[in-house]
Amino acid sequence: MRKNIIAGNWKMNKTFQESVDLIHNLNDGIDQGSLTDKRIMVAPTFVNLYPSLLESKDSPVEVIAQNLHEEDSGAFTGEVAAPMLTAMDVKTVILGHSERRTLFNESPELLAKKVDKALEHDLEVIFCIGETLKIRKTENHYLEIAGQVRKSLFHLRAEQWKNIIIAYEPVWAIGTGLTATPEQAEEMHQFIRRIIEKKYSSEVAESTSILYGGSVKPNNAEEIFSQPDVDGGLVGGASLNAEDFLAIINSI
Ligand code: PGA
Repeated sequence: MRKNIIAGNWKMNKTFQESVDLIHNLNDGIDQGSLTDKRIMVAPTFVNLYPSLLESKDSPVEVIAQNLHEEDSGAFTGEVAAPMLTAMDVKTVILGHSERRTLFNESPELLAKKVDKALEHDLEVIFCIGETLKIRKTENHYLEIAGQVRKSLFHLRAEQWKNIIIAYEPVWAIGTGLTATPEQAEEMHQFIRRIIEKKYSSEVAESTSILYGGSVKPNNAEEIFSQPDVDGGLVGGASLNAEDFLAIINSI
């Protein structure tokens, strides 16, 4: 059965000490007894991964990466490769975030290569998809989401899906304070689950966690997470302080 997941995407925020302190405060505040069916993750920047991993040792907070390169090594100045992550015992990586797609020109084809590289190294992938406001307004959002899933994930074999988590993040809701209504989130999550079922099987569709992302806050998390096809959230801004993130964790 799929687990609920609350993942904090810290993006380009937090110094070394701030990262360690935040993980410390999360560990202090998490009610361990409530974690039987949910996972908690945080994604610091690359340079803060190692101290964060040390701080989270023996704690329920999983430290994950925000990105990786599609090659194992080589002349790619400024990039980070999968074997570097697994050598530190990172087990999960976010790929396809809309900021990577728009600001760093990552195409669906490139993302398919990154997914393959992550899976080759036994990394679990949180794969982000989402439509812009323009696409939603022209009512092409289902087509867009289906295309993003198809182009980057539908080459995978069914058994590889055990390492795929989807994060549906409407671009118009990321960092804007606008959130999809619980109904909008649920209908898109249902749609995503349906296309996975059609391509693979109901078993694959039912065991894939689909997270919602985009201005998840303590005051809207419970309503969004209560939708049957929403299996948790990918949280940006509200994951940067322990109080808000703990409130979101406790609302699932
Ligand atoms: P936000 O970011 O919660 O600040 O909207 C979400 C994300 O980008 O994953």
